[in-house]
Amino acid sequence: MKIAYYGHACFGVNLAGKNLLFDPFIRYNELAKNIDISSIPADYIFLSHGHEDHVADALDIANRTGATIVSNYEIVTWFQKQGAVNTHPMNHGGKKVFDFGSAKYVSAIHSSCLPDGAYGGNPGGFVIESSEGNFYYSGDTALTMDMQLIPLTSGKLNVALLPIGDNFTMGADDAILASDFIKCNKVIGLHYDTFGYIKINHTEAIEKFKAKGKDLLLLKIGDTIEI
Ligand code: NI
Ligand code: MN
Repeated sequence: MKIAYYGHACFGVNLAGKNLLFDPFIRYNELAKNIDISSIPADYIFLSHGHEDHVADALDIANRTGATIVSNYEIVTWFQKQGAVNTHPMNHGGKKVFDFGSAKYVSAIHSSCLPDGAYGGNPGGFVIESSEGNFYYSGDTALTMDMQLIPLTSGKLNVALLPIGDNFTMGADDAILASDFIKCNKVIGLHYDTFGYIKINHTEAIEKFKAKGKDLLLLKIGDTIEI
């Protein structure tokens, strides 16, 4: 699978011939000003929760690409009211088989209202399994014991995309424990540097992971890696 970083918590994952986009927040992200959202491919847009810094560009990209918006029931219903055509509602603990593999909506500890203040259901993350590999996109979350359920209920993860910015979510220290819980030592960081509250020292975070025998990858915005 190929993973492209579009800044903040937004990633595009190409697997099994499909493009999965997670939490698009690009046009309002000063750090992502070199990303042209009209060039981002999407067959599916996964939204972890309703906050603006995760959903801001979802409708425009869905309208252009015809991508299916996948999120919890409340968020999907809200997007339908905004005119989204292709949508798929899920809720916690549910797994669905799509044409690229499967997605399971799993717990996150955070909050979730939509940009206009509408109720955004409970926040979540996604475990994606496919013939090309498996990964966990946690969305915004605290460290939670529920993460221990992931290796019990899903295949071996090749990589996990976890927040490391602290203040609103886990920081690096808790993300290291999360990687123990989910039994995955390769982590791609998200939700750091975008705002003053979440600016981090990259070297320090990477060294903390290294000291525990783990890899923390901090991708440059616009970069793509193959896992
Ligand atoms: Ni949030
Ligand atoms: Mn956020």
